[in-house]
Amino acid sequence: MERKTFLKTCGFACLSGSIMTALLESCSGNKMIIGTIDNSDMVIPVSSFLFHKDGFRKYVVVQHEKLKYPICVYRFNETSYTALLMRCTHQGAELQVFGDRLQCPAHGSEFNNKGVVQNGPADTNLRTFPIALHNDQLYISLK
Ligand code: FES
Repeated sequence: MERKTFLKTCGFACLSGSIMTALLESCSGNKMIIGTIDNSDMVIPVSSFLFHKDGFRKYVVVQHEKLKYPICVYRFNETSYTALLMRCTHQGAELQVFGDRLQCPAHGSEFNNKGVVQNGPADTNLRTFPIALHNDQLYISLK
């Protein structure tokens, strides 16, 4: 293969990879946001879950400089949410979210969207936080 043809082929391959990555990310519907702290609550707008025109994300991942681990907030319906600390209860690794489950990259523990252990070695459910809904804002109690 000629050098020019090779470079052209590689260029198209890289471009295709970038486009596919962007498409997959947009289809996944996940979102990372920075929450705001209000006294002992982490506050996020309900609008964080809006996706496209009238769809909703299953979850958002909330971060803040004062949190050692992010919090994954699942939306079940307009009044029902769960906030889960993304810290594995086995040995403390940060979890990764895949749709309705959280997985630990360290030893493979898995939790559902309510924080309940589905697969070990972890044998304790995730820490959850009470959530209150006021004026289109979610108040996640960090107490
Ligand atoms: S730290 Fe998560 S399974 Fe071990």
